[in-house]
Amino acid sequence: MQTAPDIKDLMLSNKASLKDALALIDKNAQGICFIVDDKNKLIGLLTDGDIRRCILNNSALDVKVETVMQKTFTSFPVTTPQEIVQSKLSNTIRHIPLVDQNNVLVDYACFSRTHRTPIMQPLLNGNELAYVSDCINTGWISSQGAYVKRFEKEFAEYCGAQYAVAVSNGTVALHLALAALDIKAGDEVIVPDLTFAASINAIIYTGATPIIVDVDATTWTISLEDIEKNITPRTKAIMPVHLYGHPCHMDEIMALAKKHNLLVVEDAAEAIGGKYKGKHVGTFGEAATFSFFGNKTITTGEGGMVFFKDKAMYEKALVLRDHGMSKEKKYWHDYVGFNYRMTNLQAAIGCAQLERIDEFVEAKRKLATFYNKILSATGNFILPPQESWATNGYWLYTAILKDTANISRDELMDKMLKNGVETRAVFFPLHEMPPYKNYPTKSTFKNANHISAQGISLPSSVNITQEELDNMSNALHSIFKTQHISA
Ligand SMILES: Cc1ncc(COP(=O)(O)O)c(C=O)c1O
Repeated sequence: MQTAPDIKDLMLSNKASLKDALALIDKNAQGICFIVDDKNKLIGLLTDGDIRRCILNNSALDVKVETVMQKTFTSFPVTTPQEIVQSKLSNTIRHIPLVDQNNVLVDYACFSRTHRTPIMQPLLNGNELAYVSDCINTGWISSQGAYVKRFEKEFAEYCGAQYAVAVSNGTVALHLALAALDIKAGDEVIVPDLTFAASINAIIYTGATPIIVDVDATTWTISLEDIEKNITPRTKAIMPVHLYGHPCHMDEIMALAKKHNLLVVEDAAEAIGGKYKGKHVGTFGEAATFSFFGNKTITTGEGGMVFFKDKAMYEKALVLRDHGMSKEKKYWHDYVGFNYRMTNLQAAIGCAQLERIDEFVEAKRKLATFYNKILSATGNFILPPQESWATNGYWLYTAILKDTANISRDELMDKMLKNGVETRAVFFPLHEMPPYKNYPTKSTFKNANHISAQGISLPSSVNITQEELDNMSNALHSIFKTQHISA
């Protein structure tokens, strides 16, 4: 994993020019350089703000940095205890040079070295511990236990669904949904090119053939045109994926499915709290699935849920989840089933998380509003989809870096990391990866290719701090040289 830049990437000779300083700061993306003499003794520092002011005062770019540098600044001996140095770091002093006994510059302290904003982390400070302790104190730690049914009931109520089956993760949720719908070898299931691989893997587990299609340019979700183009007599189902929390075009997908007599299995793993025309995602298709992995909007550590519209399918899924064992006759197996059960421990965490779901979803929306503001200010991004008919769940805030930006997506990720901010690239297009590239398709994947190449996700934890947001804004400011916007 990469870290903040090395000290030499911030070090500049006093004989260097203002232009050299600009180039160094551009490269290190820290907004600062430390000026040293020919013995590497620290004699000054220069920030991008200082340079801007020099240029505004008509300084020439070839002027020597030693004539314009700051000569009064904070520095510490490198032996200073870390907590003392850290206590001096703030949003105004984000870098402190560290020197040896001869005042030779040897290292520096900065916010991003002492702290890294993770792309996502769970918030578990509600009733999670109390409910898990309850499981342990009562001995109900396996899949029998009151929390599993309670979690199923309460999550279904939250979404407005009728039949819910809790399972051990979001991947098996998809497999169970497809199996309960009797998807099997010989069938084709249409899946979008941009999704986490679990969507397509679950189709392959059933023996059916996945047909990968492009996404549309506005919602980044499955393209209606491409679904239609890829329907054959063997097509049995469509799997819309509500990518990063934005709903798919559900009315049109359901109409297409009706017209061609197809089933719809929604993959709503990333869209907890997302709504299509005011109705929660996961309530449209014959089946829908969710994930409660540690990075999801609510978590059970590992966990998943399947919703069904039809009671018979739901009852079949309950049997399949439990080894295919008959509900009437113990140890009599009606199907080749699975052990996909959720434990009471997982469900206990889920019940506690559900108590705060509105708060979490609201926090994600607020975060998205802030990110929209800071990314817009750079003029270099296409913001996440937000159709008028959609409530984006904003699971993971993701934007597209414009092709006209003077930095590549990967360079941007690298610079953000150097500023203590983890980011994530959009999924690779499924059709490019070895296990999936030979499946038949009539799609050309223009949109998926572009979104995958230029898309970047920003830290989206619900408990992100004001300081982290300020740091992020500062980082973008120093990378794109735009104005700082505070959270
Ligand atoms: C779209 C999508 N589907 C399915 C899954 C699988 O869920 P899990 O990780 O809980 O197995 C994930 C993510 O984790 C996902 O993002």
